[in-house]
Amino acid sequence: MKTSEIRQKFLDFFASKGHQIVASSSLVPGNDPTLLFTNAGMNQFKDVFLGFDKRPYSRATTSQKCVRAGGKHNDLENVGYTARHHTFFEMLGNFSFGDYFKRDAILYAWEFLTSPEWLGLPKEKLMVTVYATDDEAFEIWNQEVGVPADKIVRIGDNKGAPYASDNFWTMGDTGPCGPCTEIFYDHGPDIWGGPPGSPEEDGDRFIEIWNNVFMQFNRDETGTMHPLPKPSVDTGMGLERISAVLQHVHSNYEIDLFQSLLKAAAREVGVPFSQDVPSLKVIADHIRACSFLIADGVLPSNDGRGYVLRRIIRRAIRHGYKLGQKGLFFHKLVADLVAEMGDAYPELRERQAVIEDALKQEEIKFAETLDKGMALLEAALAKGEKTLDGKTAFQLYDTFGFPLDLTADICRERGLAIDQAGFDAAMAAQRAQSRAASTFKMSGNVDYDGADTCFNGYDSVSVDARVLALYRGNEAAQALAEGDEGVVVLDNTAFYAEGGGQVGDTGEISVAGGVAALFDVTDTQKLKAAVFGHSGRVARGKLSVGDSVTATIDLHKRHATARNHSATHLLHAALRKVLGDHVAQKGSLVNHERTRFDFAHTGPVSADEIAEIERVVNHVIAANYDVSATLMPYDDAIRAGAMALFGEKYGDEVRVLKMGDFSTELCGGTHVKRTGDIGFFKIVAEGGVAAGVRRIEAVTGEGALAWVQTQEGELREAAGLVQAQPGELVGKLARQQEQLKALEKEVAALKSQMALSRLDELLASTTDKDGYKLLVARLDGVDAATLRTLSDKLRDRLGSSAALLASVVDGKVALLATVSKDLTARFKAGELVNHVAQQVGGKGGGRPDMAQAGGTEPQHLDAALASVDAWLSGK
Ligand code: ALA
Repeated sequence: MKTSEIRQKFLDFFASKGHQIVASSSLVPGNDPTLLFTNAGMNQFKDVFLGFDKRPYSRATTSQKCVRAGGKHNDLENVGYTARHHTFFEMLGNFSFGDYFKRDAILYAWEFLTSPEWLGLPKEKLMVTVYATDDEAFEIWNQEVGVPADKIVRIGDNKGAPYASDNFWTMGDTGPCGPCTEIFYDHGPDIWGGPPGSPEEDGDRFIEIWNNVFMQFNRDETGTMHPLPKPSVDTGMGLERISAVLQHVHSNYEIDLFQSLLKAAAREVGVPFSQDVPSLKVIADHIRACSFLIADGVLPSNDGRGYVLRRIIRRAIRHGYKLGQKGLFFHKLVADLVAEMGDAYPELRERQAVIEDALKQEEIKFAETLDKGMALLEAALAKGEKTLDGKTAFQLYDTFGFPLDLTADICRERGLAIDQAGFDAAMAAQRAQSRAASTFKMSGNVDYDGADTCFNGYDSVSVDARVLALYRGNEAAQALAEGDEGVVVLDNTAFYAEGGGQVGDTGEISVAGGVAALFDVTDTQKLKAAVFGHSGRVARGKLSVGDSVTATIDLHKRHATARNHSATHLLHAALRKVLGDHVAQKGSLVNHERTRFDFAHTGPVSADEIAEIERVVNHVIAANYDVSATLMPYDDAIRAGAMALFGEKYGDEVRVLKMGDFSTELCGGTHVKRTGDIGFFKIVAEGGVAAGVRRIEAVTGEGALAWVQTQEGELREAAGLVQAQPGELVGKLARQQEQLKALEKEVAALKSQMALSRLDELLASTTDKDGYKLLVARLDGVDAATLRTLSDKLRDRLGSSAALLASVVDGKVALLATVSKDLTARFKAGELVNHVAQQVGGKGGGRPDMAQAGGTEPQHLDAALASVDAWLSGK
């Protein structure tokens, strides 16, 4: 039975049992920052299990794309070395949301596996496990299904903590979980391995094919188990594993789907196909994970999901390299994958070009350092130590782009370990160094254990406050005198501290009453989560701890920054609208002058797309939507559709920034009141910053006006230079270009005429040698094309001859030699021209009767020409 048929049969079976067939969700979990990648069929139903979300059905079935690389469920290291591990795989699942529970789940699973109408597996080949205390499941298997007691293994907390068990399934550190019962298939005594629970259980003989989880609890951050509103069922069967069973092979890599990928891998790597080359398996596995991840919008990068993807790609490339393929090959496998899986997952076909492009770029990037990195690693390994030192591992990581697990993979092949502690230490040392080298930033470097700063800057521009602490450099001070630079901590402030891409506020802190003292604030940074440091200089008087002050921000700059920040949110939403949902924010910097926004996207954004993005944003500005900020629990915000950034830490309560219905994002920044306040939005630059990451810079309001005026000024100046009005500039320049071309042609014709007019003079300067005429001439200023015309004419008139014409134009030497046909047996034009060229720093060649060359050392030309006569005479 083919893999695709098994997939369909499973869905049909559960549909016949009243289950709704639901499409696979994306590999990037929607709004669930606790999860790196979708790693099980139940992920998309997490909120349904928890009782937060309701569906119109209480039974569902799916074939779900899963990636287990990074995060709680990580199989990356095993791939290629076992018969059954993958980074990407398909999980078949059936789900009950408070509908049926243990009994039906077990009966359905058994029927599907063993009934001749469905898969028809021999019952005696199957055995099961249950959670040690789950007598109910044991009884159902034993009494109702009829599985003999010696084929039901009870497994307790075998992983060293309560509920840490092969038979207690948890999605991650938190979330829905419960005891489970697993079904195993015995591949027979020819394969090494023992039954579950035995010391040999990790072998490939008894393979877990199906896990039925009885969802009963929600585990919170403290590890406490809260009962779910309704007991539910979540099951998962690896499609590749069940295919292996039904296709009577022992390894997932032998099933139909993998056979063609392995063959494609062998073809592109340039080795003969073989079933047993681990590196080919790694490549065949990884092309699936990488392509599916990119299809779902992940792109290689240096953090988060993008870094996991990068690690998988680089691991595949390295395995190709190991087999001798040093060129680009990995992206060429995408077409084979599309042929194999594009029907079941149309996104692969739709995004084939994007996937190929992203993989190719990553291949090109890694190719630059792979060779050098391998040389460094080989040198280190040749020392014969038992462990690879952490410094080398770090150098490979930092300089040569070798992810640590890639280095570990290579070391493992040689039976070596990595000095992880040494690696961590080298990493920490480098971080400390770059921190020390970074500019004057107070964060984290001062000792402060006083009260927090209360931030009132969303509503106020000026607040009364008290000075809690002062610093000169990193040292605490009681007072700062006039001219001193330092940092002020207040109990209360209107100054926004840099965060979320928005720069810190500037402004002034003045001492209330008495002799007026003034502190100019040039930046605001957080010293700790809720302690704001205002850095700057005492412009007048003296500032002391305990002073009562008024802190006032530079309102003009704040407004300009707010316009740019709000426009950034509109830009983000517009990019997703115009370019697609794969656009994800990769970084941003907002100040009063402009906004800089980095996002995931391959290939440049075209001029038309830029124009469309500008139109969309300006349209939303003109619609003058209300901008609202609401504090709410994180989960509510996500449910309301707010965009959260992966890898950002959010508190329990978050601030949701909403602009009409156009944009909803989590954001702590300062914003305009209505979109109309932004005034006008203009993109001023677009470019690439890293593979798969683009950067857009834009300006708003007065900044946009200033930008347009500057452009207009330049346009006017340019028009003035050609005596035109700006509106006529293009037509005028086009005409001038044409004129210029015509003039160039004319000049060339004139030059050649002038040169030809010297024909007689040249003919007169020939010398008679034994039986032929020799002409050596230097004609500076004549270009190579004219030299050619000239020599053609000369040849007609010279008869039996050798000629060498030279010219210096723009500091470069052009040479042309001709030898009449009757003489080419004696000396060849190519040799003659080379004889001269070598002396003027050049090289050349051509036919025996005509050859050309160039040179870069005109200072040696005369001597070189003088040597021609003797050289010919020697022939
Ligand atoms: N969610 C369960 C698993 O992944 C079925 O094994």
